Amino acid sequence: MKQFLTILLIAFIAFSCKKTADKVIKKRKIGLVTKNAMVVSARIEASKIGSDILKQGGNAFDAMVATELALAVAYPYAGNIGGGGFMVYRKNDGSIGALDYREKASKKATKDMYLDSLGNVIPNLSTRGAMAVGVPGTIAGIFACHERFGSLPINTIFDPVIALAKKGVIVTKKQKERLLEKRNDFLEVNKDTILLAKEWKESDTIKYNNLAETLTRIKNNGKDEFYNGETAIRLAKFIQDNGGIITTDDLAAYEAKWRTPVIFKYDNLKIISMSPPSSGGIALAQILKSIESFNLESYGHNSIKAIQVITEAERRAYADRSFYLGDPDFVTVPQNKLISDKYLKDRMSNFSFDKATPSAEVSHGSVQIIESNETTHYSIVDQFGNAIAVTTTLNSGYGSKLYSNDLGFFLNNEMDDFSSKPGIPNVYGLIGAEANKIVPEKRMLSSMTPTIVEKDNKLYMSVGTPGGSAIITSVLQTILNVHKFKMSMQDAVNAPRFHHQWLPDVIMMEPNLFPRKTINALQKKGYTINEEDLPVIGKVDGILILPDGSLEGGADYRGDDSASGF
Ligand code: GLY
Repeated sequence: MKQFLTILLIAFIAFSCKKTADKVIKKRKIGLVTKNAMVVSARIEASKIGSDILKQGGNAFDAMVATELALAVAYPYAGNIGGGGFMVYRKNDGSIGALDYREKASKKATKDMYLDSLGNVIPNLSTRGAMAVGVPGTIAGIFACHERFGSLPINTIFDPVIALAKKGVIVTKKQKERLLEKRNDFLEVNKDTILLAKEWKESDTIKYNNLAETLTRIKNNGKDEFYNGETAIRLAKFIQDNGGIITTDDLAAYEAKWRTPVIFKYDNLKIISMSPPSSGGIALAQILKSIESFNLESYGHNSIKAIQVITEAERRAYADRSFYLGDPDFVTVPQNKLISDKYLKDRMSNFSFDKATPSAEVSHGSVQIIESNETTHYSIVDQFGNAIAVTTTLNSGYGSKLYSNDLGFFLNNEMDDFSSKPGIPNVYGLIGAEANKIVPEKRMLSSMTPTIVEKDNKLYMSVGTPGGSAIITSVLQTILNVHKFKMSMQDAVNAPRFHHQWLPDVIMMEPNLFPRKTINALQKKGYTINEEDLPVIGKVDGILILPDGSLEGGADYRGDDSASGF
């Protein structure tokens, strides 16, 4: 009888797994196709507001401002005005660039601010509450973008966002679950109960009236409202009242920075991605260039050999990430060397299809991973042919969980992206080193990888994703899915993903989406597989330019993501 029940259980599990895999495969399809313009983001409300701005004659940069702010309203999990982000752009004349509006450390920050008297990391100090907050960059970012490239008046862009905040946003099933999961954190971190701590149900409408007021002041008074005005005074006081160190002086000193993106060739593609202080572009270049000489198409999508080659390139790139990368205004990043053909050939020289290269042989250390899947990405292509890719974040979901009821927004916990103590992992399990130590006014290292791809010198794709350390590998696989495995944008986004980040020495796979025989074969070669810690790897949003010039959106089914356009 016991044996019979065991067999029944195994059959049931196998059936459920197959059903999950089938569900994903059935979702495979062509995404929304439009002729002129498109916005793809984490929420339909934000995609629609961005797309409406384009319809009114605005360009991709106007739509960036609208979409970024609309996500702060409709997707407070990661959309923000209390965080920061990165934008990569390609204009219709082929010119390219990048904007860094990453948060930075307070002038009062110190290298050891998260360590106790014995030099041990104080649990939660860099992840929860006011001490975890970096100086927010988002408002500086949108105004820098608008000043340089915007075409519509700022009022025209802000008004629909303010209207959305007042009208309210409907709670989705996924949002309800996220709010419930974090409710205790909200109650523990905040002195008073907060708007988002109410027990919201699916289909409820949340009105963000205080956020609407903050946005109205910013609309009327510009960037200075947030960094030098009444909002700045109220924000600094709120952070300090909660035990943080950010001052009005820190806010006044914040500036978004224009950067030169990382640009590299892969086959007939030109890839344009985010430069330091994000590690995204360099790591993406390292991995893609390391695998360029392998014939992935002949191995097959998510085949054993393809997973091996990509994993081994990822292992080596993430080891470098930990040691070399940091804010380029504070450390010298050997970017040219790290992405040079010779260096990458050397790095892959000990790779063999016969067995895994232990991470201990690539570098050292052994850590635990606690992964999360936050941040958010949106892609925009306008009717003039301009394209942008933007990834923006509070770091963890709802950031530090510290929420100003008065101002109506969450504050980031981006300080955790610094290495509090070299060798100790952050919330993404990433180990940091000297290059990413805390220094006053320095920007913390990121994994965000907003990316634009050209094919044969023409705009081909705008892509990016949340996913912490798995951002880089998710963007990589999406590009490969389209370019090498000839998938539609939506198929490429939907396809099962895996991730290796050097340490811990495991391949993380989305559960029940990879055939058992692939997993067994990899295990035989010495790979450890983990299907538990990352149930979702990335939530990719992207736009592909089809051969006839129309646009195909890929909006990730793993979230509430949605494309809108015309
Ligand atoms: N906080 C996530 C990242 O910057 O990669």
